[in-house]
Amino acid sequence: MESQNIAGDLEEILLTEEQIHGRLAEMARQIETDYAGENVLLVGVLKGAVMVMADLARELNMQVTMDWMAVSSYGSGTTSSGVVRILKDLDSDLTGRKVLIVEDIIDSGLTLSWLIANLKSRGPASVEICALLRKPEAARVDIDVKYLGFDIPNKFVVGYGLDYNEMYRNLRSVGILAPHVYS
Ligand code: XMP
Ligand code: MG
Repeated sequence: MESQNIAGDLEEILLTEEQIHGRLAEMARQIETDYAGENVLLVGVLKGAVMVMADLARELNMQVTMDWMAVSSYGSGTTSSGVVRILKDLDSDLTGRKVLIVEDIIDSGLTLSWLIANLKSRGPASVEICALLRKPEAARVDIDVKYLGFDIPNKFVVGYGLDYNEMYRNLRSVGILAPHVYS
């Protein structure tokens, strides 16, 4: 089979693998300082946060545990409705735990704001957010992100965990899809 240059489907690369890893390393140093001596529970939101979780967790020189949640926003299309359904819940009991939610992207913020309230209701010691990307122009609710990778323009992006129809999650960089892919 002819090899596929899926990276060629990007119209523009917003963040290279090097930029992403460099920033995750800086964020990891901050997290190590803030949680010195603690066991943090990293909660990854499937599926988009898989790459961020894998790289951030391996960058952290501290004791962590990892758990996963899958949620889906009701409603159609690419915009979040804020009404969220749990597809896969955590295995862990959050009582007294220091929870750090690991997210790929904050777009409208509606999904995350629901998730924060949901996790806070389970009796954790704290709930904080770590997100690789944020679209400030798309924000519909204020989210207090403790660890943020990059602010990006209000465009649909793929790669490094983020998908278009479940594809492109395996790209090493984050970019904007070329129109020929979806038209
Ligand atoms: P919000 O913050 O609007 O976002 O509730 C909810 C989820 O939607 C996904 N999302 C994206 N996925 N490219 C993607 O591949 C994007 O540009 C994008 N924006 C939002 C993502 O899973 C986020 O957690
Ligand atoms: Mg997500």
